[in-house]
Amino acid sequence: MGSLQETNPSVWVATTPASSYRPLPGPLDTDAVVVGAGIVGLTAAILLQQRGRRVVVVEAGRVASGTTGYTTAKLSALHGLIYDELAQAYGDAVALKYADANLAGIAQVAELVDHYDIACDLQTRPAFTYTCDPEMVDTVRAEVAAARRISLPVSFTTDTDLPFPVDGAIRLDDQAQFHPRKYCLGLAAAVAGGDGSVYERTRALSVDEDDHGRCRVVTDRGTVTADHVIEATQLPFSDKGGFFARTYPVRSYVLGVRVAGAPPQGMYLAAGSPSRSVRSAPVEGGELVLVGGEGHKVGQDDDTARRYRALEDWARGHFSVEAVDYRWSAQDYMPVDRLPFVGPLAPGSPRVLVATGFQKWGMSNGSAAAIMLVDRITGVDNPWAEVFDSNRLNVRQSVSDVVKENADVVKRFIGDRLRTATDRSVDELALGHAAVLTIGTERVAAYRDDAGTVHAVSPVCTHLGCTVTWNTAELTWDCPCHGSRFDCDGHVVQGPAVRDLAPRDEAG
Ligand code: FES
Repeated sequence: MGSLQETNPSVWVATTPASSYRPLPGPLDTDAVVVGAGIVGLTAAILLQQRGRRVVVVEAGRVASGTTGYTTAKLSALHGLIYDELAQAYGDAVALKYADANLAGIAQVAELVDHYDIACDLQTRPAFTYTCDPEMVDTVRAEVAAARRISLPVSFTTDTDLPFPVDGAIRLDDQAQFHPRKYCLGLAAAVAGGDGSVYERTRALSVDEDDHGRCRVVTDRGTVTADHVIEATQLPFSDKGGFFARTYPVRSYVLGVRVAGAPPQGMYLAAGSPSRSVRSAPVEGGELVLVGGEGHKVGQDDDTARRYRALEDWARGHFSVEAVDYRWSAQDYMPVDRLPFVGPLAPGSPRVLVATGFQKWGMSNGSAAAIMLVDRITGVDNPWAEVFDSNRLNVRQSVSDVVKENADVVKRFIGDRLRTATDRSVDELALGHAAVLTIGTERVAAYRDDAGTVHAVSPVCTHLGCTVTWNTAELTWDCPCHGSRFDCDGHVVQGPAVRDLAPRDEAG
């Protein structure tokens, strides 16, 4: 969701043209509506089209303007440390299906790139999970053993092309990296060039399903009726399934830096803390090193700008950095039981389908999710569907985490409402600063921009009513409960909220 972000555009956004699909012109009827033009939505749309379905894609912002445009864009089945944990929690069979789904997701990307001849810098690369902590080596070895048990061809090594020594690493060959926005623009063109349609600047507001097997997606530009709906909006916005309570939002940060010498060619993720991600990215005139990390729960850091400083310090301590060309951040949803949710929105909504909780691995998980959803719509058995079942109840592992995450949300909901800055007035806001103030009898989220103009909106998130907090790095109001984000004038940048923050009079 959202428009192309201008405060800190990613290298993917900055190096591609703004797409210009027109908004939905009015009411339409079709076979399937896909809400969201990121990797899940567009992959599902093109696969549905290949299976003879008429598809309409509606996107609130622009193609790949959400997290797909702000990822590190690794296509890998090596997800840090996950297989030992999955195997211990659910058994090797579940770990195997998770790996198989992600490998199939990667293969799906390669197939679509080839079929539609999409120039998106797809490069085969080895993936590594490494540690520089001797005490983590046994954990890394355990992950190697778990992955090998399910036939994932990993190896233990201390040999990497990072410019610093590591104490141990897991290596998985034949993974890939790419330019996600070029890829999505190629998919969108293929959808629009076939029997499908892509509409941008069209915000879906509600979805319902009648008793006769028809669905209605109401947007701010008209209503689309269809046999099936896919909510590919990262977190479903019509959340009858309560996914906001089974996931939690995390923001993380990326720098695109130029370094002296050749960048590492592997794709890396550090095990343990601090978590750091490294990969190269081809750009005009050379290659960047993308350095990522500093993840934290959305809306729960008073000084997000320091995250960029921490990443830059780390980059300069480990590489010969010549320049920092890009900085951006992304938002991901973490499932409380370590498995994404893919399938019906709720038990009583079999035709409205969702995919969420990709735990920062949305390129491979998202592509796999699209395959699963399209299989479901077209009546094809899918071997991974049960493991990713959106309505599963893995209470064994997750109930305490669900309780913990929701207790955290309740704390934010109540505590933030009580906490107000009654002793400050708008006049005291310095240039470039923001705060939630009490003006008269009203609470106001106020931001004074660098030109001195005050932007005042309601601090009450339009999703479920938590109080937003200011994000100093991206200049947005972020909701600590389920991750909705709004610009300084209250416009929705990111769901699950679909309505803007109400404007407020700065004078009260
Ligand atoms: Fe749910 Fe704000 S995102 S209350």
